Amino acid sequence: MPAERTGFAMYRGTQPARRGEPSADPEPAPEPLLPDDAELDLATDEAAHVVTETLARLDAELVGLGAVKRRVREIAALLQIDRARRRFGLAASRPTMHMSFTGPPGTGKTTVALRMAEMLHALGYIRKPKVHTVTRDDLVGQFIGHTAPKTKEAIAKAAGGILFIDEAYYLFRPENERDYGQEVIEILLQEMESERTSLVVIFAGYPDRMDTFFSANPGLSSRVAHHIGFEDYSADELLQISELMVAGENFRFDDAGRTAFAEYLELRMGRPRFANARSVRNAVERCRLRQAKRLVDLGRPLTRDDLVTLRAADVRGSRVFDPAPAPAI
Ligand SMILES: Nc1ncnc2c1ncn2[C@@H]1O[C@H](COP(=O)(O)OP(=O)(O)OP(=O)(O)O)[C@@H](O)[C@H]1O
Ligand SMILES: [Mg+2]
Repeated sequence: MPAERTGFAMYRGTQPARRGEPSADPEPAPEPLLPDDAELDLATDEAAHVVTETLARLDAELVGLGAVKRRVREIAALLQIDRARRRFGLAASRPTMHMSFTGPPGTGKTTVALRMAEMLHALGYIRKPKVHTVTRDDLVGQFIGHTAPKTKEAIAKAAGGILFIDEAYYLFRPENERDYGQEVIEILLQEMESERTSLVVIFAGYPDRMDTFFSANPGLSSRVAHHIGFEDYSADELLQISELMVAGENFRFDDAGRTAFAEYLELRMGRPRFANARSVRNAVERCRLRQAKRLVDLGRPLTRDDLVTLRAADVRGSRVFDPAPAPAI
């Protein structure tokens, strides 16, 4: 029989808040250590149900992304075990959680960052479940002495949560030796190294350019513990995503509408500026516009069914179905 079986209460990290950093919650009293022969049931961790819920939402709300979901589960497990070890007084360095999200446009990078924030917060790794998104212009100044305060301001805004640097490679302009982006990278390096900082940095962007960015900045790359790759969605996944989006807005495709949308996707995927799920969202919006116009033009009383149904005509009005112009002779 175990001497003691216990769970553990909400944990908000053992790192003291930085001086001058707004502290969201008062520091909770440290939990008493468990004796060596105790048993700890992970399921009784107050954070466990939030984590389970977040992972379930990730599965339900995001189609595909198998590899990404696996990595998120691994990170959750790592932090759960880290919490458990602390209860037994097993000293270890705080796991590094800086990440990179690389993938083509519209593959769910921003969306997964938001879920990640919820999970890291539930597990006490960060103090608030917030993502502060920035791009080069939010960090780099126009003149000497301008960049450091701008970058520090962004870091202060993100403190306690996630700093999400979108299109991070724009920070690095090798063609310009005096580019202020280098200063941002140096400040970030220091910040990411600091054990005391309750800040997670996620670098996001398209794969090729991110590879170049990390190769040119090995210091940054080595401080990123989790390099997570997002992939283009298959036609099938895009259709499932459209169904989720349509249902989320209380619409539905009828059978002919669904077939038309699948055809639309096949065509659209081959066109320029195709942006995966983002293009799907835009296409659904345009279907709604055409449906609205069609319904208004009907000039008769409308049923609930009329209002919720997206028909083939609402999809086929897209210019993507226009015949390709004849090649110039
Ligand atoms: N797997 C998915 N299942 C359902 N919806 C998705 C999925 N991936 C993305 N979406 C939806 O597609 C839209 C675009 O996703 P998101 O903004 O997260 O992509 P992104 O990778 O950050 O794009 P970008 O590179 O252009 O910034 C959002 O509305 C999001 O909810
Ligand atoms: Mg994004």
